[in-house]
Amino acid sequence: MTETATLIIDGRSYELPVLTGTEGERALDISRLRSRTGLITLDDSYANTGSCASQITYIDGENGVLRYRGVPIEDLAARSSFVEVAELLIFGELPDDEERAEFRDLLTENSALHRDMRKHFDGFPADAHPMAILSAMINAIQAYDLPEIHITDAGGFRRAAAALIAKTRTIAAASYKSHIGQPIAYPRYDLPYAENFLHMMFSVPYRDYEATPEVAHALNMFLVLHADHEQNCSTSTVRMVASGGANLFTSVSAGVNALWGPLHGGANMAVIEMLESIHEQGTPVARYIDQAKDKKSGVKLMGFGHRIYRNFDPRAKILKQAADDLLESMHITDPLLDIARQVEEAALADDYFRERRLYPNVDFYSGIILRAIGIPLDMFTVLFAIGRTPGWIAHWKEIHDNPDQRIHRPRQLYVGDPLTEWLPMGER
Ligand code: SDX
Repeated sequence: MTETATLIIDGRSYELPVLTGTEGERALDISRLRSRTGLITLDDSYANTGSCASQITYIDGENGVLRYRGVPIEDLAARSSFVEVAELLIFGELPDDEERAEFRDLLTENSALHRDMRKHFDGFPADAHPMAILSAMINAIQAYDLPEIHITDAGGFRRAAAALIAKTRTIAAASYKSHIGQPIAYPRYDLPYAENFLHMMFSVPYRDYEATPEVAHALNMFLVLHADHEQNCSTSTVRMVASGGANLFTSVSAGVNALWGPLHGGANMAVIEMLESIHEQGTPVARYIDQAKDKKSGVKLMGFGHRIYRNFDPRAKILKQAADDLLESMHITDPLLDIARQVEEAALADDYFRERRLYPNVDFYSGIILRAIGIPLDMFTVLFAIGRTPGWIAHWKEIHDNPDQRIHRPRQLYVGDPLTEWLPMGER
């Protein structure tokens, strides 16, 4: 017996189905609301609206729970490689040895860029933002009409997924090398994903960069923690574009652009800029907190707050510890980490943040790790995009594989001018 909710409008009552998710969360099914009642719902910024039923990631924002395909993020961050997590998200379960080896080979075979694609880097100005380059180059991949673009079967999808995960990393590293005027470093085929990225970023013709185990572990964990997060702004963008039938590369390129904003993936850069300004200007933390509470200041506490988490973002907890561990292993201190801790302590003790249930999110400590590794600030959101690529691919696949999928086309409530007469120029 389906649970229902009763809606009474214009003296008539309608029974709306109530659906229940795996973990008991409930949803009002309004998919036939307009055809039955003539009304739509209005939910600006979708704070109360589910866009889909998905099997990929589960978040309990009240209790700070995050699971990829049911597996707790704490276990994956501590014990899985990024590529293994990518396979879990995309194909639905942790791979066995044979699947891991096969996907690793696909990544290796698809890491290089088409020779003519590399010429694009010469065309970008040296100071072009790497997020602009990343989205442009991901889209450009299809101009070379790789067989992966026209996905017709499971094997073609596996190759396309591997190609995108591998090439995103190569494009990111190549954009950095072009920016600093160094020759692009080819991927090494003996290195795991995270180490290979650092090799392509920091190796030079006369000296190979060798990541320490601690640095490699920290970057791998960073990528795992960013791999998916259900219907966030950029993933919803990928699903929107995919629902129109666009190919995987075009859809993910749109996701890169959506991620860039400072309220979303761009926050990891904004957090460091915030901490740097506090450090350089010697702003007392209490004063900065007061500014962030003052709506007129235009200042937000970057890295704090979240649409879903009304408790600690579990990723922030893990990243805070990882930042501590990495800096200790490297025997470095970062004044920005001390400031971040002071900001967190002051905000969590302040009624303004407590009443609004604003806690540190994934972006609050992640930048400390990237700084320690030597990633330049303007590449921080690119690293977020590299991490999020498997999630975007998994969501594209969920749309692509759904035989009942319809194009995403929200309705609106029109509040503009009523019927208006056209006027010739002389009468306007
Ligand atoms: C990510 O969705 C995802 O899952 C995203 C993400 C992922 O993995 O994909 O988790 C990654 O994008 C994390 C968020 C990174 N962004 C930031 O750190 C930017 C700073 N945070 C805020 O801009 C804000 O908290 C958002 C954008 C994250 C959430 O915005 P909401 O849900 O629209 O929150 P809101 O604006 O409705 O805030 C509610 C109240 C408001 O005050 P009142 O009107 O109730 O008085 O809290 C205040 C806000 O002004 N508030 C903040 C604040 N965040 C919210 N006040 C000061 N500083 C902040 N950071």
